[in-house]
Amino acid sequence: MTTERRQDECVLITGAGSGIGAVMAQRFAALGARVVIVDIDADAAERAASQATGAIWFQADVTDRGRLAEVFREVRDRRGPVSVLINNAMTCADADFLDLTVEEWKRDVSVCLTAAFHTAQLALPDMLAAGHGSIVNISSVNALQYLGNVSYSAAKAGLISLTRSLAVRFGADGIRANAIVPGTIVTPAWDHRIAQDPHVLEDSRRWYPSTRLGRPEDVADAAVFLTGSQSGWINGESLIVDGGLMAGNVAMAAQIVPDERSR
Ligand SMILES: NC(=O)c1ccc[n+]([C@@H]2O[C@H](COP(=O)([O-])OP(=O)(O)OC[C@H]3O[C@@H](n4cnc5c(N)ncnc54)[C@H](O)[C@@H]3O)[C@@H](O)[C@H]2O)c1
Repeated sequence: MTTERRQDECVLITGAGSGIGAVMAQRFAALGARVVIVDIDADAAERAASQATGAIWFQADVTDRGRLAEVFREVRDRRGPVSVLINNAMTCADADFLDLTVEEWKRDVSVCLTAAFHTAQLALPDMLAAGHGSIVNISSVNALQYLGNVSYSAAKAGLISLTRSLAVRFGADGIRANAIVPGTIVTPAWDHRIAQDPHVLEDSRRWYPSTRLGRPEDVADAAVFLTGSQSGWINGESLIVDGGLMAGNVAMAAQIVPDERSR
């Protein structure tokens, strides 16, 4: 699929030091965009920038509004105004609901949801002045169905609501906002879970109708599409990228439909 891109595209991706964000940075850089990597982990951001042609990087905590404002000012000076904003940084508390602390709750909501409010407010004035812009919020299937991680899930559900608000409020200004809703994607985010249970990913594969887990490239492809000319009339959408996980329940179908048991 070919997608026409704007020549002056400046793509800022939060949490791009690792996993999906790092692969998105590489993908947009390969398309000729000026890529800006923002991550709380300076070493990771620098490493990711070295793998994305021409990318620049900033160490920033996305919950720090003042620091983000500095980053957007410096990006404007060095690369021009941000035309594509991808909110991708995340934290995800593992604790059971009864043990979850208010600090963990607040951190997930700050990083996964409030940060997107900050970055959108900082990016929008330049997008409005330019008469175009695209915002992509990386949500999760956890926003749609209980799969554990209560605070993360609530924040990711809020991110879908924020996406719709931005789409409707700024649609007439040439600005689109869409969400991507990934299922399990094999990234370093899973490393601590693999350390507890080496089979966690292989075991979860059986829930996926497409029989494989996701790759960062699956999400990067969706982000390229949602920010390109071929999705020009897609606004306020939540694009599920999950190998069919949210479409139905493989195990239940196999249990109640005899012919499916042999799958
Ligand atoms: N991996 C999955 O299975 C999966 C599934 C659904 C959705 N997602 C979503 O995809 C996105 C990327 O996930 P990933 O798997 O690549 O994660 P990852 O852990 O590999 O990368 C997340 C990045 O966010 C950065 N970060 C954390 N807190 C930050 C902060 N306060 N300020 C700035 N940066 C911060 C981390 O340093 C890290 O580089 C996230 O939004 C995640 O919720 C992932």
